[in-house]
Amino acid sequence: MRLTLISSKYRFLTTLQKTFPLSLGLLTIFVITSSNGFAQKASPPPSTATTASGISLDTAWKVRLYEFAKLNVVHPSWGLAHAERNFHLTMDLAKRQHVEVDEDVLFAASFLHDLGGLKNFAKEGVDHAIRSAEISEAILKSQGFPTAKFPDVREMILSHVYYGPASASPVAALFREADILDFLGAIGIARLFAVTLEAGAETSLRDIVKTLTSFAKTFSTQIQSSAGQELARQRTHELNEFLRQLKSESMEGKAL
Ligand SMILES: [Fe+2]
Ligand SMILES: [Fe+2]
Repeated sequence: MRLTLISSKYRFLTTLQKTFPLSLGLLTIFVITSSNGFAQKASPPPSTATTASGISLDTAWKVRLYEFAKLNVVHPSWGLAHAERNFHLTMDLAKRQHVEVDEDVLFAASFLHDLGGLKNFAKEGVDHAIRSAEISEAILKSQGFPTAKFPDVREMILSHVYYGPASASPVAALFREADILDFLGAIGIARLFAVTLEAGAETSLRDIVKTLTSFAKTFSTQIQSSAGQELARQRTHELNEFLRQLKSESMEGKAL
């Protein structure tokens, strides 16, 4: 529409040039300026709002979902910051693996995939991924999410767990890898220690070390993509280095 209007103005200018050549300069400036003015009115300026880590909040439903997540996706290990990391890490892996990402789907899955495991949303006896998928549809619908995309969000949420099989969907498989990678490296260590901050958690340093040792041995085997494997190697090395240091500073682990 906009292009048609502008090209008809240039046809008008060409005709006018033959009749009044001297007036063309000023008239050209006027018409081009008015064309640009039209373009600016037709396209609202892009939103500059972002999440804390810089994810674009370029639609009203994303703003609403982020506000919801700030209030409800609250946990030292599986909270808002984990959601933001999963989004960025999936984007990074997808770029390196040349996998196309629907950012709407990834945004929704990132902020809701662990909701079903959190207080106020969990259901006893129901796996947190199943519970998250179960409650996400109504939440997203009320926020104006494009509902035709929900099946892809559901797939991403259901298949994100390390103890389940990877999805056949390339982007959902990378989202699962991002979720696994967040258990490794410095961030994995920080998250596991943060769990001890939960009210009622009775976890000793020795238990944490046992869990971290198991992460270092087994989690990287869950990663299939070459980009994910490269990150898993780096993060497993960080984790093993931390465990080695911790052992040497605690009388070979006897004083933990
Ligand atoms: Fe999870
Ligand atoms: Fe997660």
